[in-house]
Amino acid sequence: ISVSEVHRTGYHFQPPRNWINDPNGPMYYNGYYHLFYQYNPKGSVWGNIVWAHSVSKDLINWKALEPAIYPSKPFDKYGCWSGSATIVPGKGPVILYTGIIDEKNTQVQVYAIPEDPTDPLLRKWIKPDAINPIVIAGQGVNGSAFRDPTTAWMGKDGRWRMLVGSRRKHRGMAYLYRSRDFVKWVRAKHPIHSKTTTGMWECPDFYPVSLKGKVGLDTSIEGNHVKHVLKNSLDMTRFEYYTLGTYLTDKDKYIPSNTSEDGWGGLRYDYGNFYASKSFFDQSKNRRILWGWANESDSQDDDVKKGWAGIQAIPRTVWLDPTERQLVQWPVEELNVLREKEVSMNNQKLEKGNHVEVAGITAAQADVEVTFSFSSLDKAEAYDPSWVNAQDLCSQKGSKVQGGVGPFGLLTLASENLAEFTPVFFRVFKAPSKHVVLLCSDATSSSLTSNLYKPSFAGFVDVDFATKKLSLRSLIDHSVVESFGEGGKTNILSRVYPVLAVANQANLFVFNNGTEPIIVENLKAWSMKSAELI
Ligand code: FRU
Repeated sequence: ISVSEVHRTGYHFQPPRNWINDPNGPMYYNGYYHLFYQYNPKGSVWGNIVWAHSVSKDLINWKALEPAIYPSKPFDKYGCWSGSATIVPGKGPVILYTGIIDEKNTQVQVYAIPEDPTDPLLRKWIKPDAINPIVIAGQGVNGSAFRDPTTAWMGKDGRWRMLVGSRRKHRGMAYLYRSRDFVKWVRAKHPIHSKTTTGMWECPDFYPVSLKGKVGLDTSIEGNHVKHVLKNSLDMTRFEYYTLGTYLTDKDKYIPSNTSEDGWGGLRYDYGNFYASKSFFDQSKNRRILWGWANESDSQDDDVKKGWAGIQAIPRTVWLDPTERQLVQWPVEELNVLREKEVSMNNQKLEKGNHVEVAGITAAQADVEVTFSFSSLDKAEAYDPSWVNAQDLCSQKGSKVQGGVGPFGLLTLASENLAEFTPVFFRVFKAPSKHVVLLCSDATSSSLTSNLYKPSFAGFVDVDFATKKLSLRSLIDHSVVESFGEGGKTNILSRVYPVLAVANQANLFVFNNGTEPIIVENLKAWSMKSAELI
């Protein structure tokens, strides 16, 4: 296989060639899941953006259709940027997206509906001239920072609402629009929320989560049995953060709760490469599903050579953690149908410096679930309160830096002699009144190639240590290591490009580099079949 093929994914969504970015308008309708996404039909760098379209029965195997939305009108002549779908009762699906009207990237919002609502695949979309564009920037709004309309929700007063991401100078914000008929939209006097110094809010997402259990909710659900989530993608650093909070429906204002920061240091869906995400309510299984885009970590020249760039993360079910302090995410259950050969490891003790191979599976295309345990936290290293940035801490204390409790975890995409490896590991610290747990996915040693972005992605994990256990799941897919710590509380997607640890030369190990012995209580790993992506 050529270099360009060896890093292609086996079960993460990607088209055969060209550039992709944001997932757009995901929905379930009439028996099919629809995924649209930002796509350059002409090459593997960003540009000429259209909405590519794929359909699926199970969120894992996909069939590509013709692009659904592409420049064809004065109001989207220069690009069809991100947007969302809403299933309007009595009307069917409606897509709102951002049209680019000139070379200065002036942005308006466009309304599109299926040409033939009885076509189960919803192949062709029309943009009625009489009503479009349905929203223009208007007075006091920055028309070059005015994009990515959300799925709309209906208030108790029978009016629809939706958000459009924007900024005023450095203040990031989401404008609120209301409509009775989904066609004529009026901007509310105040944005639903805004925050100083966060810059442009791309791809806002706003939805309710149930206080109890994992069931997802339709976007229009409100009341005191729910909290709301507001997520924004910050274009200044290309990462996203979210808050949990209260939606004051009478004032149409969102008030973030004080359990996490509303700003740069806030909660993240994913502490790695995951951007422009969007969720939707899957009414066929009563769950909310989150899609996110993972771009490449190689150079633009490499992307041109490869002829492709960008993947979608595995869709994740998302719900509220019982602590109500954060969300939890887990790969959709349908992914498990790709599990093929299974191997396991039980009660394997790892002393300091040990690494043990998990043999017998295709380690370059695998799914691993593991629970680690230890008998004591006494040896945990002291936590320095100045360590507020998890990523800095991970780059300082990599998998090779010996610790007390940890580092322990997986060595993924490892070459036989460990010239290359991507470790995904925990490290436990002792602070005055609690323990601090770090989850790290460190690309530093992932490849012998030098001109790559190899970040030490990391996030803290909010753990209750009653059990002295930590669990981890990693989805390994050639150039992807997508990991879920503690049942999906802290998640990290890394893109890596090994040159030795490829195809059947890749290996998987468990390791411990801390003085406290670690037990691999239970590990299951599967070779993964390739998804159908045709
Ligand atoms: C986010 C984004 C959106 C925009 C789209 C353009 O990655 O910049 O704000 O609509 O991509 O492709």
